Order: sequence, then C-alpha cells, then structure tokens
Amino acid sequence: MLPKHVISSLDLSKEEIELIFDEADRYEKLNRTSKELEGKVVALAFFEPSTRTRNSFDSAVQRMGGRTIGFSSSEGTSVEKGETIADTVRMLESYSDLIVMRHKLDGAAKFASEISKVPIINAGDGKHEHPTQALIDLYTVRKVKGYIDGLNFCVLGDLKYGRAVNSLLRLLTKFKPGKVFLVSPQQLRIRTEVKDTLNFPVIETDSLQDVIDMTDVLYVTRIQKERFADEIEFEKVKESYKVDISTVNSMRKDSMILHPLPRVNEIDRRVDKLPQAKYFYQASLGVQVRMGVIHQVIGDSR
Ligand code: CP
Repeated sequence: MLPKHVISSLDLSKEEIELIFDEADRYEKLNRTSKELEGKVVALAFFEPSTRTRNSFDSAVQRMGGRTIGFSSSEGTSVEKGETIADTVRMLESYSDLIVMRHKLDGAAKFASEISKVPIINAGDGKHEHPTQALIDLYTVRKVKGYIDGLNFCVLGDLKYGRAVNSLLRLLTKFKPGKVFLVSPQQLRIRTEVKDTLNFPVIETDSLQDVIDMTDVLYVTRIQKERFADEIEFEKVKESYKVDISTVNSMRKDSMILHPLPRVNEIDRRVDKLPQAKYFYQASLGVQVRMGVIHQVIGDSR
C-alpha cells in the first residue's frame, strides 16, 4: 500500500513500485476499465501547462468510474485575485477525494500534503520532482526489456532543471542499475542536492558519443526553457544535443530511446519510426500506470 501522498520517488519502496507495475499490467488486461472509483471525485489542479499528465490522469479516473474537476492553468481561478496555494488546497479538499497537483514552485506538492486532508499526488513541482512520470519510465523499460536491474542508463540533456530526470534517478535507487551516464553541457549538470540522494555512482560527461555504444536505455530530455532566469543562458545551450539516425546507428540493436515529452527538437523526427524509439509507447502507458497509482492511493486497497 502506498503512503497517503505521492510527492517524491524517494517515498516509494521497491515493493510499492512493483505493486503499481503489477496493477498497471492488470488494468491493461482489463482493457483499462474498472468501477472502483464510482462516487469519487478527483481534483486535477494544474497551475502549469500539461498535455500528457493531466489528460492521462483524467482518463485514468474516468476509466475507473470516477469523475474529475479542476483547472489547467491558474488563469480563470481565484489565484489571479491573489488566493494562496493553501486556501486553494483547502477548497479542493472539500470538493474531492484526491488532488493531483502541478505547480511551478519546488516543494508546492509537499506543502499541499502538509495541509490537505485528502491525498496529494505530485504531478510536477518546479524543477523538483515528477514521480508518476518516473514510474511510467521504468514501467516502460520493464515492458520492453522484461527487467530493469543491470541495464546501463544514459540520461541526456537538461539535468539541472528537469524534474522528470530527478524522479527517474531517484526511482532507480530502488533498483540495481548498471552504469548510469549523465550527459549534459557543463551548465546543466545535475544539482548536488539531487546527486547526494543517489545510492549508485554516476559518470558525468558532456560527450554522448563516448557512452552511446554502452547504453541500453537512452533517456532524452528537453532543455527546460521556462526555468531559465536568463534567456541568453538558454540560447547558449538550447541546441546542445540532437539524437538523429547516426546516433541510433551507434546504439546497441536492442537498446531503447525514452523521452518524457514534450519534445522540441532534441530528437530528429526520422528517429520516430526506428524500433529503438519507444517514447510514444511510453506516453501511452501513462494511463494504466496512473490507474495503478490511484488504485493504491484511494482505490479498493484502502
Ligand atoms: N511528461 C509530461 O509531464 O508531459 P506534460 O507536461 O505534457 O504533462
């Protein structure tokens, strides 16, 4: 059974992760339908933009027989009049059984969990974490390869501001990965406070070429333009990497490419049709993984 709130990958034990993966498999076999949320309402409180996370949570709740309320930006809410996160959460907890929350501030979900009477699922807080994305990432690896332990991971791109990266690396602490390569420009290296939470060594480099032939799972990320304080700094790094056909030709035949999406231009569109490209499949698994998480938080098992 999961903790009441899902804020960080570090909150989850290996057993809980495996349980969510097994539940996701079960929902797939059930054609992603159940009635266990009948009579329940889930609030989708998205203060920041989203396509996949918000809609896959919405789909997951509806496929489980529940209903959703909420918003997809602070525009049109009373946040525009100056209402605080705390007061917004106090309202939503009285309207719903679960709050799924995305916010631009690091720690917003944790703060909400400290005041909310209903569970909070962190759907992304600033540059901090996005734990359900990490569950989808490793579930995809398990679906494609059948196992996670021993695989070499290469995480590419914006490791400083990317919250999906933080959650993925922290979720990997519950497994036994092989080598973990972190490839980024010097300015976008992983932050020390994140690195300090890992229990495996990482190899940091700015050269994808040096590690690509040793990689089983290439995890590509977007440079997070919206988190740069200075646009000139973004311009310096925005085109640092591009995964193209020649990159894929250097990869192991049975390797895979993941990306939490959205993609801007860091993966050439011609890569999409190659067998290594698993990122759209990865996104499609979001519904059943989120059904598994919701089941553990407010479904039948409570
Ligand atoms: N991966 C992800 O969080 O995508 P969205 O921003 O579209 O939700």
